[in-house]
Amino acid sequence: MLVIPFANPKAQYLARKLEIDAAISRTLESGWYILGQEVERFEREFAKFLGVNFCVGVGNGTDALALALLSVGVNPGHEVITVANTAIATIAAIEQIGAIPVLADVDLQTRCLDPKTIEGLVTSRTKAIVPVHLFGQPAPMEDINALACKWGLKVVEDCAQAHGAEILGKKVGSYGDAAAFSFYPTKNLGALGDGGAVVTNSEETAETVRQIREYGWTTRFVSNRPGVNSRLDEIQAAVLRVKLPFLDSDNARRRSIAQRYEKAINSCLLVSPKSIDGTLTAMHLCVIECQDREGVKEFLEKEGIGTAIHYPMSVHEQPAYTGRLRGEEYLPCTELLSKKNLSLPMYPELTELEVRHICSVLTQWCRTEGHA
Ligand SMILES: Cc1ncc(COP(=O)(O)O)c(C=O)c1O
Repeated sequence: MLVIPFANPKAQYLARKLEIDAAISRTLESGWYILGQEVERFEREFAKFLGVNFCVGVGNGTDALALALLSVGVNPGHEVITVANTAIATIAAIEQIGAIPVLADVDLQTRCLDPKTIEGLVTSRTKAIVPVHLFGQPAPMEDINALACKWGLKVVEDCAQAHGAEILGKKVGSYGDAAAFSFYPTKNLGALGDGGAVVTNSEETAETVRQIREYGWTTRFVSNRPGVNSRLDEIQAAVLRVKLPFLDSDNARRRSIAQRYEKAINSCLLVSPKSIDGTLTAMHLCVIECQDREGVKEFLEKEGIGTAIHYPMSVHEQPAYTGRLRGEEYLPCTELLSKKNLSLPMYPELTELEVRHICSVLTQWCRTEGHA
């Protein structure tokens, strides 16, 4: 039986094995392993790809968010408005710097921050908004930026799932005061270990992140401010430089696979991802919505198809957070989505045979259930 894992980062390594092995070997031979030419070049190349002025490589996406928030002036005790329909990392990063996450609801179509739910949450302590471009779908940045401007708030985009996504032809990551990316291996641009980056158009913000990522140093051994150790390493940067030129075409392949899934489940109870006007999704995850989630999941798994749930619990339903975050009492759309979500395999290395198999099993499920 064909077995199709839900995620397959090794397939991406194998797809570019020669270039990746050469890049790693070049880095090993250079004898320079931390903050050298590979990181500098990657930072320049990724900033250019996104159309922003600066990129600063850090240790992972959670740190990227934490350092970005600190660098735009979020301090302990400040409130940061974000969503509960996200990876726990979004909230962890806010709390990591002593700030207070406040939860707004999402829009059922984009599954991202619903701008209409922001204003009721703003207080004198609110300092920033963190929209998450969830599953690769851009959040409505123009409306969010307009509200931020009205209330004097900073905007830090969580782009961990949206490398290469666009709004009106402009890449996400270029809309906020700063933005955070993760290069976790299964991301659209994934390293072979942990990695992250902060991007911004502000020289001052970039310089602050550069200092904080390495003990607050302005020059070696001189700390200008308290800092941490969160550096993107040379080997990961070298790997990312190999993969970056393929990002747009990989994303296009993801979108075309999603369209095939969408066609396969057409007219059955499943609601497939909608394409939203003016935006280009990076299709990080292909998340369908089903009434009988367990039924679909089991049916696919019996046919060798791996699935996952993003996320089985929203942030405010997690034991570590429940009952203590402002906003958690009214998140109807977030809660509705978390009961129905099911993620299908979505990576550019899925073969034609695998995509056809997934499509045919999806269609079969719809027929069995009498919906098609
Ligand atoms: C939405 C979101 N934000 C932040 C992160 C954190 O990234 P990392 O795992 O690199 O710390 C992730 C990664 O899972 C994510 O999906």
